[in-house]
Amino acid sequence: MGKIINCNKSVDVGINGLCTQCGTIHNLKLFPQTENDVKINFNNMREYKKAEKIAGYGNKSDRSKGDFYPTPSFVLFPILEKENFEGTILEPCCGEGHISKELLSKGFDVTSRDLFDRGYGETGIDFLFMPQPKTFDNIITNPPYNLALEFAQTSLMVAKKKVALLMKINFLEGVKRKTFLENSPLKYVYVFSKRQTLTRPDWEGKNKGFITYAWFVWEIGYEGETIIKWL
Ligand SMILES: C[S@@+](CC[C@H](N)C(=O)[O-])C[C@H]1O[C@@H](n2cnc3c(N)ncnc32)[C@H](O)[C@@H]1O
Repeated sequence: MGKIINCNKSVDVGINGLCTQCGTIHNLKLFPQTENDVKINFNNMREYKKAEKIAGYGNKSDRSKGDFYPTPSFVLFPILEKENFEGTILEPCCGEGHISKELLSKGFDVTSRDLFDRGYGETGIDFLFMPQPKTFDNIITNPPYNLALEFAQTSLMVAKKKVALLMKINFLEGVKRKTFLENSPLKYVYVFSKRQTLTRPDWEGKNKGFITYAWFVWEIGYEGETIIKWL
Protein backbone atom coordinates (compact mmCIF):
# COMPACT_ATOMS: atom_id res chain seq x y z
CA MET A 1 0.00 0.00 0.00
CA GLY A 2 1.25 3.51 -0.61
CA LYS A 3 1.47 6.25 -3.19
CA ILE A 4 3.18 6.41 -6.56
CA ILE A 5 4.07 9.84 -7.86
CA ASN A 6 2.92 9.85 -11.43
CA CYS A 7 3.65 12.80 -13.68
CA ASN A 8 3.35 15.34 -10.86
CA LYS A 9 0.28 13.77 -9.30
CA SER A 10 -0.01 11.03 -6.69
CA VAL A 11 -2.05 7.90 -7.16
CA ASP A 12 -2.92 5.30 -4.56
CA VAL A 13 -1.49 1.86 -5.12
CA GLY A 14 -2.68 -1.42 -3.65
CA ILE A 15 -0.50 -3.98 -1.91
CA ASN A 16 0.54 -5.35 -5.30
CA GLY A 17 1.60 -1.94 -6.62
CA LEU A 18 -1.22 -1.63 -9.14
CA CYS A 19 -3.18 1.64 -9.13
CA THR A 20 -6.34 1.26 -7.06
CA GLN A 21 -8.19 3.59 -9.45
CA CYS A 22 -7.51 1.97 -12.79
CA GLY A 23 -5.66 -1.28 -11.99
CA THR A 24 -2.66 -0.49 -14.19
CA ILE A 25 0.94 0.42 -13.49
CA HIS A 26 1.81 4.10 -13.70
CA ASN A 27 5.17 5.48 -14.69
CA LEU A 28 7.14 5.99 -11.55
CA LYS A 29 8.82 9.31 -10.97
CA LEU A 30 10.72 9.82 -7.79
CA PHE A 31 10.71 13.22 -6.13
CA PRO A 32 12.34 12.61 -2.77
CA GLN A 33 12.30 15.80 -0.79
CA THR A 34 12.37 14.84 2.86
CA GLU A 35 13.81 11.83 4.64
CA ASN A 36 10.25 10.51 4.92
CA ASP A 37 9.72 10.92 1.15
CA VAL A 38 12.85 8.88 0.52
CA LYS A 39 11.48 6.05 2.67
CA ILE A 40 8.07 6.18 0.97
CA ASN A 41 9.65 6.17 -2.47
CA PHE A 42 11.86 3.22 -1.59
CA ASN A 43 8.70 1.27 -0.73
CA ASN A 44 7.03 2.49 -3.92
CA MET A 45 9.94 1.22 -5.98
CA ARG A 46 9.56 -2.24 -4.46
CA GLU A 47 5.80 -2.15 -5.09
CA TYR A 48 6.39 -0.98 -8.63
CA LYS A 49 8.84 -3.82 -9.27
CA LYS A 50 6.32 -6.30 -7.88
CA ALA A 51 3.57 -4.85 -10.05
CA GLU A 52 5.83 -5.16 -13.09
CA LYS A 53 6.30 -8.80 -12.19
CA ILE A 54 2.57 -9.40 -11.76
CA ALA A 55 1.82 -7.76 -15.05
CA GLY A 56 4.63 -9.68 -16.75
CA TYR A 57 6.36 -6.50 -17.85
CA GLY A 58 9.70 -7.58 -16.33
CA ASN A 59 13.03 -7.52 -18.09
CA LYS A 60 11.95 -9.85 -20.83
CA SER A 61 10.32 -7.48 -23.27
CA ASP A 62 8.80 -10.30 -25.31
CA ARG A 63 6.91 -11.66 -22.33
CA SER A 64 3.18 -11.91 -22.95
CA LYS A 65 1.27 -9.38 -20.77
CA GLY A 66 0.42 -11.08 -17.46
CA ASP A 67 2.27 -14.20 -18.63
CA PHE A 68 -0.64 -15.24 -20.81
CA TYR A 69 -0.13 -18.70 -22.27
CA PRO A 70 -3.48 -20.43 -22.83
CA THR A 71 -3.86 -24.11 -21.99
CA PRO A 72 -4.87 -26.34 -24.90
CA SER A 73 -7.47 -29.04 -24.16
CA PHE A 74 -4.96 -31.83 -24.88
CA VAL A 75 -2.94 -30.59 -21.90
CA LEU A 76 -5.99 -30.32 -19.61
CA PHE A 77 -7.77 -33.60 -20.42
CA PRO A 78 -5.09 -36.02 -19.09
CA ILE A 79 -5.43 -34.64 -15.54
CA LEU A 80 -9.22 -34.88 -15.66
CA GLU A 81 -8.84 -38.56 -16.56
CA LYS A 82 -6.55 -39.18 -13.56
CA GLU A 83 -8.15 -37.05 -10.85
CA ASN A 84 -11.67 -36.56 -9.51
CA PHE A 85 -12.73 -33.05 -8.60
CA GLU A 86 -15.82 -32.93 -6.39
CA GLY A 87 -17.68 -29.67 -5.76
CA THR A 88 -16.88 -26.16 -6.88
CA ILE A 89 -13.84 -25.18 -8.95
CA LEU A 90 -12.10 -21.80 -9.08
CA GLU A 91 -10.05 -20.93 -12.17
CA PRO A 92 -8.32 -17.88 -10.62
CA CYS A 93 -6.43 -16.68 -13.71
CA CYS A 94 -8.68 -17.87 -16.51
CA GLY A 95 -7.27 -15.80 -19.39
CA GLU A 96 -9.58 -16.37 -22.34
CA GLY A 97 -11.25 -19.26 -20.54
CA HIS A 98 -9.55 -22.20 -22.21
CA ILE A 99 -9.63 -24.37 -19.06
CA SER A 100 -12.94 -23.01 -17.76
CA LYS A 101 -14.87 -23.65 -20.97
CA GLU A 102 -13.74 -27.28 -21.09
CA LEU A 103 -14.63 -27.80 -17.42
CA LEU A 104 -18.06 -26.21 -17.90
CA SER A 105 -18.73 -28.42 -20.91
CA LYS A 106 -18.04 -31.43 -18.68
CA GLY A 107 -20.63 -30.21 -16.16
CA PHE A 108 -18.34 -28.78 -13.46
CA ASP A 109 -19.40 -25.80 -11.32
CA VAL A 110 -16.70 -23.29 -12.32
CA THR A 111 -15.96 -19.71 -11.26
CA SER A 112 -13.54 -17.87 -13.57
CA ARG A 113 -11.49 -14.80 -12.71
CA ASP A 114 -8.43 -12.95 -13.99
CA LEU A 115 -6.46 -9.83 -13.19
CA PHE A 116 -6.63 -8.76 -16.83
CA ASP A 117 -9.66 -8.47 -19.05
CA ARG A 118 -9.30 -10.98 -21.86
CA GLY A 119 -13.03 -11.10 -22.58
CA TYR A 120 -13.82 -13.95 -20.21
CA GLY A 121 -14.85 -14.36 -16.54
CA GLU A 122 -14.74 -11.80 -13.75
CA THR A 123 -11.82 -9.47 -14.38
CA GLY A 124 -9.68 -7.03 -12.41
CA ILE A 125 -9.32 -9.55 -9.59
CA ASP A 126 -5.83 -10.13 -8.25
CA PHE A 127 -5.83 -13.67 -6.90
CA LEU A 128 -2.91 -12.88 -4.62
CA PHE A 129 -4.53 -9.85 -3.02
CA MET A 130 -6.47 -10.62 0.16
CA PRO A 131 -7.39 -14.23 -0.72
CA GLN A 132 -10.52 -15.56 0.98
CA PRO A 133 -9.66 -18.78 2.81
CA LYS A 134 -11.57 -22.00 2.04
CA THR A 135 -14.06 -20.52 -0.41
CA PHE A 136 -13.86 -23.13 -3.20
CA ASP A 137 -13.54 -26.92 -3.13
CA ASN A 138 -10.92 -27.07 -5.88
CA ILE A 139 -8.58 -24.87 -7.88
CA ILE A 140 -7.49 -25.85 -11.36
CA THR A 141 -5.30 -23.56 -13.40
CA ASN A 142 -2.17 -22.85 -15.33
CA PRO A 143 -0.75 -19.94 -13.29
CA PRO A 144 1.56 -17.15 -14.51
CA TYR A 145 4.99 -18.74 -14.38
CA ASN A 146 6.69 -15.77 -12.77
CA LEU A 147 4.28 -16.08 -9.83
CA ALA A 148 4.02 -19.88 -9.62
CA LEU A 149 5.04 -20.18 -5.96
CA GLU A 150 2.74 -17.36 -4.87
CA PHE A 151 -0.14 -18.96 -6.77
CA ALA A 152 0.53 -22.38 -5.21
CA GLN A 153 0.65 -20.90 -1.69
CA THR A 154 -2.50 -18.84 -2.18
CA SER A 155 -4.36 -21.76 -3.80
CA LEU A 156 -3.74 -23.90 -0.73
CA MET A 157 -5.34 -21.21 1.43
CA VAL A 158 -8.38 -20.87 -0.81
CA ALA A 159 -9.14 -24.53 -1.66
CA LYS A 160 -10.97 -26.94 0.61
CA LYS A 161 -10.14 -30.16 -1.27
CA LYS A 162 -7.71 -30.14 -4.19
CA VAL A 163 -5.37 -27.86 -6.09
CA ALA A 164 -4.16 -28.81 -9.58
CA LEU A 165 -1.60 -26.49 -11.16
CA LEU A 166 0.01 -26.92 -14.55
CA MET A 167 3.62 -25.83 -14.19
CA LYS A 168 7.06 -26.40 -15.59
CA ILE A 169 8.77 -29.43 -14.07
CA ASN A 170 11.51 -27.21 -12.70
CA PHE A 171 9.05 -25.93 -10.11
CA LEU A 172 10.49 -28.87 -8.16
CA GLU A 173 13.86 -27.19 -7.78
CA GLY A 174 14.94 -24.10 -5.84
CA VAL A 175 15.61 -23.52 -2.16
CA LYS A 176 12.45 -21.52 -1.40
CA ARG A 177 10.27 -23.98 -3.29
CA LYS A 178 11.92 -26.98 -1.57
CA THR A 179 10.87 -25.63 1.83
CA PHE A 180 7.36 -24.94 0.57
CA LEU A 181 6.94 -28.27 -1.24
CA GLU A 182 8.27 -30.37 1.63
CA ASN A 183 5.78 -28.79 3.99
CA SER A 184 2.79 -28.85 1.66
CA PRO A 185 0.24 -31.61 0.98
CA LEU A 186 1.63 -32.24 -2.52
CA LYS A 187 0.27 -35.69 -3.41
CA TYR A 188 1.04 -36.19 -7.10
CA VAL A 189 3.33 -34.79 -9.75
CA TYR A 190 2.01 -35.96 -13.12
CA VAL A 191 4.86 -35.45 -15.58
CA PHE A 192 4.11 -35.13 -19.28
CA SER A 193 6.28 -37.77 -20.93
CA LYS A 194 5.94 -35.87 -24.20
CA ARG A 195 7.10 -32.26 -24.15
CA GLN A 196 4.36 -29.68 -24.59
CA THR A 197 4.26 -26.22 -26.09
CA LEU A 198 2.08 -23.51 -24.62
CA THR A 199 2.50 -20.51 -26.87
CA ARG A 200 1.65 -16.84 -26.64
CA PRO A 201 -1.45 -15.96 -28.68
CA ASP A 202 0.73 -13.99 -31.12
CA TRP A 203 3.24 -16.82 -31.59
CA GLU A 204 3.85 -17.60 -35.24
CA GLY A 205 6.70 -20.07 -34.95
CA LYS A 206 6.52 -23.83 -35.34
CA ASN A 207 4.51 -25.52 -32.63
CA LYS A 208 7.18 -27.92 -31.39
CA GLY A 209 7.30 -29.19 -27.81
CA PHE A 210 10.26 -27.77 -25.93
CA ILE A 211 9.26 -27.61 -22.27
CA THR A 212 8.59 -30.36 -19.76
CA TYR A 213 5.37 -29.60 -17.95
CA ALA A 214 3.67 -31.40 -15.09
CA TRP A 215 0.37 -31.23 -13.28
CA PHE A 216 1.07 -30.67 -9.58
CA VAL A 217 -1.82 -31.94 -7.46
CA TRP A 218 -2.22 -31.09 -3.79
CA GLU A 219 -4.86 -32.75 -1.61
CA ILE A 220 -5.70 -30.75 1.50
CA GLY A 221 -4.87 -32.83 4.57
CA TYR A 222 -2.58 -35.29 2.71
CA GLU A 223 0.44 -36.18 4.85
CA GLY A 224 2.16 -38.91 2.81
CA GLU A 225 5.12 -38.75 0.44
CA THR A 226 4.75 -37.12 -2.96
CA ILE A 227 4.08 -39.66 -5.72
CA ILE A 228 5.39 -39.19 -9.26
CA LYS A 229 3.33 -40.43 -12.18
CA TRP A 230 3.67 -40.05 -15.92
CA LEU A 231 1.10 -38.90 -18.44
C1 LIG B 1 -0.33 -18.79 -18.18
S1 LIG B 1 -1.79 -17.77 -18.40
C2 LIG B 1 -3.01 -19.02 -18.23
C3 LIG B 1 -4.40 -18.61 -18.61
C4 LIG B 1 -5.46 -19.69 -18.31
N1 LIG B 1 -5.37 -20.13 -16.93
C5 LIG B 1 -5.27 -20.88 -19.22
O1 LIG B 1 -4.79 -21.90 -18.74
O2 LIG B 1 -5.60 -20.78 -20.40
C6 LIG B 1 -1.78 -16.87 -16.84
C7 LIG B 1 -2.94 -15.92 -16.60
O3 LIG B 1 -2.76 -15.36 -15.30
C8 LIG B 1 -3.30 -14.04 -15.29
N2 LIG B 1 -2.74 -13.37 -14.10
C9 LIG B 1 -1.48 -12.88 -13.94
N3 LIG B 1 -1.33 -12.40 -12.69
C10 LIG B 1 -2.53 -12.58 -12.06
C11 LIG B 1 -3.00 -12.30 -10.74
N4 LIG B 1 -2.20 -11.75 -9.83
N5 LIG B 1 -4.29 -12.61 -10.43
C12 LIG B 1 -5.11 -13.18 -11.35
N6 LIG B 1 -4.72 -13.47 -12.61
C13 LIG B 1 -3.44 -13.18 -12.96
C14 LIG B 1 -2.88 -13.50 -16.64
O4 LIG B 1 -3.67 -12.41 -17.01
C15 LIG B 1 -3.06 -14.73 -17.54
O5 LIG B 1 -4.34 -14.73 -18.14
